[in-house]
Amino acid sequence: MADAPKPTSVKLTVDGKPVEVKPGTNLIEAAKQAGAQIPYYCYHPRLTIAANCRMCLVEVSNAPKLVPGCQTPVAENLAVQTRSARVKDAQRAVLEFLLLNHPVDCSICDQAGECKLEDYYMMYDFKPSRLEGGKVLKNKRKVLGPLVVIDQERCILCTRCVRFMEEVAQDRQLGVFGRGSHEVVDIFPNKPLDSNYAGNTVDICPVGALLSRDFRFKARSWFLSATPSVCTGCSRGCNTYADWFNGVTYRYRPRENEAVNKSWMCDQGRLSYKSLNADRVEDARLGKKAEGKTAVFEQAVASAAEKLKVGAANLGFLASPVASVEDLLAGFALAKQLGLKTVFVGGRADGASDKILMQADKNPNRTGLTQIAKANGFEVKPFSALVDDINGGKVRSVYAVGGEVPVGARDAGVVFSKLELFVASATNHSELTDEAHVLLPAATHVEDHGTFVNFEGRAQRFVKCYPAPGNAKPHWQWASAISRTLGGEAAFKTAAEVFAALSTIVPELKDFDWQKAQPRATARKGSLHPLSAGGDGRPAGYREWMEAR
Ligand code: SF4
Ligand code: SF4
Ligand code: FES
Repeated sequence: MADAPKPTSVKLTVDGKPVEVKPGTNLIEAAKQAGAQIPYYCYHPRLTIAANCRMCLVEVSNAPKLVPGCQTPVAENLAVQTRSARVKDAQRAVLEFLLLNHPVDCSICDQAGECKLEDYYMMYDFKPSRLEGGKVLKNKRKVLGPLVVIDQERCILCTRCVRFMEEVAQDRQLGVFGRGSHEVVDIFPNKPLDSNYAGNTVDICPVGALLSRDFRFKARSWFLSATPSVCTGCSRGCNTYADWFNGVTYRYRPRENEAVNKSWMCDQGRLSYKSLNADRVEDARLGKKAEGKTAVFEQAVASAAEKLKVGAANLGFLASPVASVEDLLAGFALAKQLGLKTVFVGGRADGASDKILMQADKNPNRTGLTQIAKANGFEVKPFSALVDDINGGKVRSVYAVGGEVPVGARDAGVVFSKLELFVASATNHSELTDEAHVLLPAATHVEDHGTFVNFEGRAQRFVKCYPAPGNAKPHWQWASAISRTLGGEAAFKTAAEVFAALSTIVPELKDFDWQKAQPRATARKGSLHPLSAGGDGRPAGYREWMEAR
């Protein structure tokens, strides 16, 4: 006899509200779909179930005792109560236990403002401690590795971090040691937490136990705005939040994208935000660094246009795959106008890769560059060919979109010092940009809207966080202003206009809906915070949270 077909959905009620979910869904996820909220600590949708915190206990119609919502799958016609008196008592009891030895030093804790212990205490407990006598004392600042420090007193032993290292990072660098109330999360003797994915343990730690040594004590989370962005550390293009305040990016956090990075990012990418703040080109400069003078926008554009016109006979076009699609579209349009047919590809040198996320290509937009070059009929050559052509005297002038090169900036600077003309728009100063006769200050990806195409050919939008520093402008704005001065018609006011006008010839981009693809920090149904950052359920930034209310 043939087996009966398996059901494709299960009907149940959560706090009296009917909901239909996939078989196997646990009660926490089913409640989210019903618009209810079951609080949890140890549960993480991307990790195995530990069911050790008991914060998710709920009442169900098919069991006499409360059951953990993280571990209990839905059943047909099940009635789940998430707010009954028994559930509330249990939630209060669990919080009282968790807080028994907790130091409650929120005022000096980096997690304050985005801590689930704080949040749940306010929502489900709100009672004074009944503890008499001293708390158990543990190590309050043990450095676990290059990026992570632990305050063991704050740890609630949910084991999310331990499971993450084993299951996702595939590197068992954390464990739980000791017994009873003296249990601690720690590293193994003489083995630091040095995985390239260690920073994710800070994200998923629901309390202020695991902290980033890089971010610690730099900013209060409620001052930070979180803007959806894309990591530029390699060609994977992990989705991120850039957390910023007052024109400074303080950290990247992973933003959930099932297809690209799930809920994670690597530490190399996580720390790549630093180049947004350090040694930025803020003013246009006419003349090499040694003798150069600051120029305003119009002067710089006029000078670049005039010089490029004169030097066009032996001109080379250098494009960086760190620049966005919009920057490159405008850069290629100008190069075409100047009569060029070859592009030399700069960008960062290849580096390490792994089987989790990290790609060897350390440039976020090589695929986009290649697509745009092909569509414009350009021959693509490596940076080494440009070096040969400069050394051989074949190229005597260079127009560059982006200052990143795969050899050391010092070595590149020595070669470029031989040029009669070097016009470059660049984000950061280097020994290469020191050699530019016209240096145009460029905006980074957090200072404008735009698109990167990752190694799989996935076009991903990023969003402007704050204005570029000083007089920096997006590469596309410099390129189109020079083009206009040389008689072109480019008169773009926004990156959206650049994309709309210039991407139609690129087959892979012509159907990309630029506006629709814009990532938005949207409310997640059933989450504590309307703008949770990802699987960790953290808020995406206090200000956005306030706006969304
Ligand atoms: S350090 Fe954080 S994530 Fe790890 S067990 Fe403790 S509370 Fe959980
Ligand atoms: S894998 Fe690549 S894109 Fe993802 S966080 Fe790391 S460097 Fe950034
Ligand atoms: S979330 Fe269910 S027991 Fe911790």
